[in-house]
This record gives sequence, C-alpha cells and structure tokens, in this order.
Amino acid sequence: MSPDLEIRSARSLAPAERAELFNAAYEGYLVPFHVDEATLAFMDDAFDLDLDASRIAFRGGAPVGLGNLGVRGEDAWIGGVGVVAGTRRSGIGEALMLALHEEARERGVRRVWLEVIVENRGAFALYEKLGYRTVRDVEVWSLPTAEDEDAHETRDISADEAQARIRELGSEREPWQRADGTLAHYADARGLATDTGAGAAVYRQPGENVQLVQYAGEPKPLLRTLRALGRVSVLNLPEDDAAAPVLRELGGSVFVRQHEMLLDL
Ligand SMILES: CC(C)(COP(=O)(O)OP(=O)(O)OC[C@H]1O[C@@H](n2cnc3c(N)ncnc32)[C@H](O)[C@@H]1OP(=O)(O)O)[C@@H](O)C(=O)NCCC(=O)NCCS
Repeated sequence: MSPDLEIRSARSLAPAERAELFNAAYEGYLVPFHVDEATLAFMDDAFDLDLDASRIAFRGGAPVGLGNLGVRGEDAWIGGVGVVAGTRRSGIGEALMLALHEEARERGVRRVWLEVIVENRGAFALYEKLGYRTVRDVEVWSLPTAEDEDAHETRDISADEAQARIRELGSEREPWQRADGTLAHYADARGLATDTGAGAAVYRQPGENVQLVQYAGEPKPLLRTLRALGRVSVLNLPEDDAAAPVLRELGGSVFVRQHEMLLDL
C-alpha cells in the first residue's frame, strides 16, 4: 500500500464530488453504471448507507477510491467499493474494505454482506482473500410488459398488509436491497394479493418500470398482473426461487448473476 494513502470518512467529500468519484471508480465495470447526486441520495437512504462509516481513499490529496457501508443492527452491507482505474492493484481496495470492517466491528456488526457479479473475478478474489464466502447465487431478472387478458386473479391491498401476508407465508431471507429495512424507506410501495390468498407481493413503480420488491406464495398470478403495468424487474432473486422458472416461462431473462457473499466478523 502506498505510504501517502489516507482513508477518511465519506463525509470528507461534497455530494457532487462523491458521485463523480463513484463514477470514476466504476469505470470499466461489467454493467455500465452511472450515478448522479440524486441517485446517490436515494441509495444512501434506501440502503441505510452510513456516511460516517463509509470511507474515501485519498492519494496525494486526490480521491482515488470509495467504500460504502450500510448498517442495520448487527448486519452490514457493502454498498459499492471501487478504485479509480489508474490506481488499481496497489492495495487501495483492500485497505478500504479493511477500514469498513474495522468501523463495522466498532459498531457491533457481526455479519457483513455483499453481492458481486460472477464475472467480476478481481473483486471476487479480493473478497475471498478477506474471508468472505459465497452463501448463494442471486439473479437480476427483467420481464417485458405484456397485456394479459386473464390477469384478474389478484387484488390490490396495502403494502403493509402484503408484507404481513408475506411474513405469514414464510419467505426466504431477502437480499439487502429488497429486505424489510429497505422497504421501510419506500413511501410508494404497493401491495398485491392473489384472489385465493395463496400469494402476496410488494412492489413499486417509480417510473414506467415495475420493481418487485418482495413476494411469497404462488408467483404466476402476481407476475402476470405486474407485467400488465409495465416491464418488471426483480433484483437479486435467489437462483432456486420458485419465481425463476415462471419468469422464464413468461418470457423474462436474467440480466446479471451475482454471488451473495458473507463475512462473519
Ligand atoms: C475490485 C476493485 C475495487 C479492487 O480494488 P484494487 O485496489 O484494485 O484491489 P487491491 O489492489 O487492494 O487488491 C487486493 C487483492 O484483491 C485481489 N484482486 C484485486 N484485483 C484483482 C484482479 N484484477 N485480478 C485478480 N485479483 C485481484 C487480489 O487478491 C489482491 O491481492 P494481491 O494484490 O495480494 O494479489 C477494483 O478492481 C475496482 O474498482 N473495480 C471496478 C469496480 C468494481 O468492480 N467494484 C466491485 C463491485 S462488487
């Protein structure tokens, strides 16, 4: 690690500078990724990114990398780590991650989660070196919009009601970005239930696209209703989830596949 490397709180940059650094640090990323101040503010809020716990790396006074840490009780999540292209492979990414772990430990965090695109060999190697292990693989799905004349097997309910129903039906642990902690930040969440009561979903539609946040029970009627509203995206659905074959059958496709990884601190 270069001797002139300094790791400071994410508060040491103004929001616009932080967004600029984020974009520079994700240059060449497998999935084109661009954030502006508004996107970053949304992420900070929705994913509980803690600016005091998150870190920026400076070399020779210039920002060269960042690591974002989300904290929810004893769980934390790496909400982005990146190093400016010309300064990679000099220990900065590792130093940032270690700084996040140290901060997490001080806050009583016991588990640190992250997702990494399976083709991102460099990042995966970094996380393995640090002791993370893959817990499961998750996939980002996209389902094209389609009129569906038979899609009348569901009814609208409140998001709270849907969430309670999902808990009753007993769903799997959701990845960080679709967990209850994220849902708590969404004022625009809506609920859906199947007529039989055997399925429920929480979703939002901030623009044209529909984001399925959580669901439990029979996925087909829920997905058919949602796709009539717009293109449906599902972030980080476990690969063996019951909705995966239904999404495929309805004409959906996997956009990206990720390893969900865990470090016990
Ligand atoms: C992933 C990333 C943050 C790594 O940062 P970095 O500063 O280059 O990594 P470091 O120099 O600290 O490397 C530490 C260890 O990680 C592993 N590693 C990092 N990059 C690697 C690569 N390209 N190939 C193989 N191993 C790599 C190695 O084990 C390395 O240890 P070593 O130097 O003893 O071999 C950087 O490549 C990056 O910013 N990529 C674009 C954004 C991104 O993909 N972020 C991760 C999203 S999940």
